[in-house]
Amino acid sequence: MRILVTGSTGQLGFEVLRLFSQSGHEVIAPVRQELDFLNPKQVAEGVRRFQADWVINCAAYTQVDRAESEVEQAFVINRDSAARLAGAVANYGGKVLHVSTDFVFDGKQSRPYREEDEAHPLGVYGRSKWEGEQAVRTALPEATILRTAWVYGVHGHNFVKTILRVAREGKPLRVVNDQLGTPTWARDIAGVIRTLVQNRARGTYHYTNAGSTSWHGFATAIIAGASETGFALKTTTVEDIPTSGYPTPARRPAYSVLDTLKIQSLLTTPIPHWRDSLNKMLKELHSCADC
Ligand SMILES: NC(=O)c1ccc[n+]([C@@H]2O[C@H](COP(=O)([O-])OP(=O)(O)OC[C@H]3O[C@@H](n4cnc5c(N)ncnc54)[C@H](OP(=O)(O)O)[C@@H]3O)[C@@H](O)[C@H]2O)c1
Repeated sequence: MRILVTGSTGQLGFEVLRLFSQSGHEVIAPVRQELDFLNPKQVAEGVRRFQADWVINCAAYTQVDRAESEVEQAFVINRDSAARLAGAVANYGGKVLHVSTDFVFDGKQSRPYREEDEAHPLGVYGRSKWEGEQAVRTALPEATILRTAWVYGVHGHNFVKTILRVAREGKPLRVVNDQLGTPTWARDIAGVIRTLVQNRARGTYHYTNAGSTSWHGFATAIIAGASETGFALKTTTVEDIPTSGYPTPARRPAYSVLDTLKIQSLLTTPIPHWRDSLNKMLKELHSCADC
């Protein structure tokens, strides 16, 4: 199959590109300079030129706080270009897998969010992703939409690397304990994307690693796992604080655990627990010279 991966310089796109390339597919991964999502027309033309069987859209504006002041960029990248991409693929009869986020929900529920639960984003990033989903569905009703959450990987910027950097520098770690979700390894998401493609799955799916925790629980597990793996850390304790103690421009859902029951019916192995995936990632990060 001919696969086009967007956002391959990001955390998830990197893993998707790697996995599909290893699987013997013809993979094209244009970078921002070749397919700029700030230019929806260019995206549509580029996608039409490549004529891929599947387009895996991992490109996104992901700066949650900065989106509050860069509203137009967020919407052009996450909604307008995603829609033009899907429309271009629809015109030549290809398929699209579009990646979305737990931030489409407001976090007021107390049970994991199902695919059909009502979206109600709290900020610009979430709204741009939610409107992007809807625009993709309109352009290509059989598109596959995969919502995930709390993504980290060996490649790119993420919470795991930030915590390790601060701990290595010996600075204090203060992390919020009242936002719950599920840390999810980009490598695992890439595997699930391959399964969705193999199954020609259509519609909306939720996928995260198994279990849930707070950002404080996640940070504590990073420190513990990294110490065991052999990272030299000067800070080894994490103070827990409420969200009100760490004000940010964008509001975040207090509870964004996703229900993964629907996607489980397509998977042949159980979803890995977030702690197990985190520890695998930390081992890889420890032995990686340029990550
Ligand atoms: N990170 C999370 O915690 C999280 C949680 C839930 C869902 N998601 C979703 O998962 C997907 C992948 O996220 P990620 O964490 O892998 O994101 P990421 O690491 O921030 O990567 C974003 C990718 O999009 C590309 N991009 C940004 N602006 C672009 C533009 N104008 N034109 C072309 N490409 C552009 C970036 O390219 P450059 O390298 O050139 O900037 C990069 O390759 C996104 O749809 C995101 O909404 C992420």
